[in-house]
Parts: sequence; C-alpha cells; structure tokens
Amino acid sequence: MTPRFEPVIIGFLCGWCSYTGADLAGVARMQYPPNLRPIRVMCTGMVHPDLVMEAFSQGADGVLILGCHPGECHYLEGNTKALARAKVISLELEATGIYPERFEIQWISSAEASVFAELITRFTRNIQKLGPYRNIYIEAVQKCL
Ligand code: FES
Repeated sequence: MTPRFEPVIIGFLCGWCSYTGADLAGVARMQYPPNLRPIRVMCTGMVHPDLVMEAFSQGADGVLILGCHPGECHYLEGNTKALARAKVISLELEATGIYPERFEIQWISSAEASVFAELITRFTRNIQKLGPYRNIYIEAVQKCL
C-alpha cells in the first residue's frame, strides 16, 4: 500500500483575522488536515507575489493567502491590494507551468473557525488530487550537477 501524499501548504495568514480564526479552530478542537504551515503577517497587503513564488520554489505544493473580509482590513486597502496581486500571482503561476489551482486567496474573520477548518480540508484534498508539485526546472538543473 502506497502512503497517501501529504502536501506541504504554506499559508500567509493576516494576524488580525485569519490567524485568530485558525487559533480559534485549534482551541475549539476542530478537525482539519495538519498540512498547513501558517505564516503570520500583519496584513495580506504585505504579501508580495515573489513570496508566493518563492514558497513554490522552496517545495510548497500549495499556497494560501487568508485575510480580512473586504471592508474590514485594518490597513483599509491591504486586502484590496492583495486581491489585485492574486490575479498577478495566478498569471505568474500559469506562465511558469504551475496549476493556478495550487494557489488561493480567501477571507476568514477571527470568528470563522469552522470556515477556516472547512477551507483547509477542501484545499488540502484538492492539492492531494493534483499530486506533488515538481519543479521540473530545478530537477533538470540538479541532474546536471
Ligand atoms: S489587516 Fe487583515 S487583510 Fe489587512
């Protein structure tokens, strides 16, 4: 029996909302896959597209950006900027041959622990269906070394 693929999922979580929602999910002992590696950020507006691409180049199988709902960003327009950047990220992923489905941006408030747990469960299952992300360019270079 082959072991089930357990993806590495990097999540950039806004500390004001989604990170707190994740914390609440933990405190409430909600069940969800343990594949998320959360990175707490002050606002989704500070997540540069290069950070997402770097996560993939360092071996992530999927990347999430989770922030405050529209109109609730503590820095007013951070999540609006993040949404605009998400479109750029999707284009970059396509251009580099990475399925755009490996990346998502979502809004989760500090009270939405169950939404957080459902999202992580769904996203993890989707990445498991896609399989591991293999950077064929890095593998080709490594073979030459
Ligand atoms: S403060 Fe949460 S997305 Fe800006």
